[in-house]
Amino acid sequence: MIFDILTLFPAMFEGAFSDSIIKRAVEKGLVSIGIHNIRDYSDDLRHQTVDDYPYGGDAGMLMKPEPLAGAITAAKERLAGSDPVVVYMTPAGRLLDQDIVKELAEKKSLILLCGRYKGIDQRIVDNYVDMELSIGDYVLSGGEIPAMAVVDAVTRLIPGVLGNMDSAETDSFHSGLLSHPHYTRPEIFEGIRVPEVLISGHHANIKEWQKEKSIEITRERRPDLLKKR
Ligand code: ADE
Repeated sequence: MIFDILTLFPAMFEGAFSDSIIKRAVEKGLVSIGIHNIRDYSDDLRHQTVDDYPYGGDAGMLMKPEPLAGAITAAKERLAGSDPVVVYMTPAGRLLDQDIVKELAEKKSLILLCGRYKGIDQRIVDNYVDMELSIGDYVLSGGEIPAMAVVDAVTRLIPGVLGNMDSAETDSFHSGLLSHPHYTRPEIFEGIRVPEVLISGHHANIKEWQKEKSIEITRERRPDLLKKR
């Protein structure tokens, strides 16, 4: 999987991808991540302007179309042959869930476009964007953190990224349910004992307990997920 990230703030990604699972996935050659500054595609060489006032007189600024078109076109050229999907991160997009993450993980390459200011010129959405994605019903200062969330969630599903130890199959949402509670040693902590069944060694009973707890927690906290299942 190749991620090509288009942003005005490339430095934001430095720490996010330089540790743990994503770092290992890159080192193993299972994913590659390119980060490109949209400002480099400004047609205004002197000031490298990337924003402008909105028609209609709304407050705030918008990202101008020309640098975005240039940045996306260059990304498509870099990824030629891998049929890249252009994803624009915006609170107005489809709400990201594990089904969409699975769908994205099947692709060969993703171009993740991070908006800033009040958003981007609609003609970029109309002519260049394949999918608009939101990571939740709240507004962030830009699409960078949402793009990091997409890279992280998708990378976990690339075969070979997770070992058996932390396989995606036991993650919350994998089967459409929230995960059951987890316990490690000691057996008694601050007066609370690990549920008996987990130390029984009886594999079938443990599985059944975990499934029941998953359903119970999902019903209590996210009945919408049960309905979807
Ligand atoms: N940009 C700003 N807020 C966002 C959100 N919630 N999801 C995706 N992109 C965003």
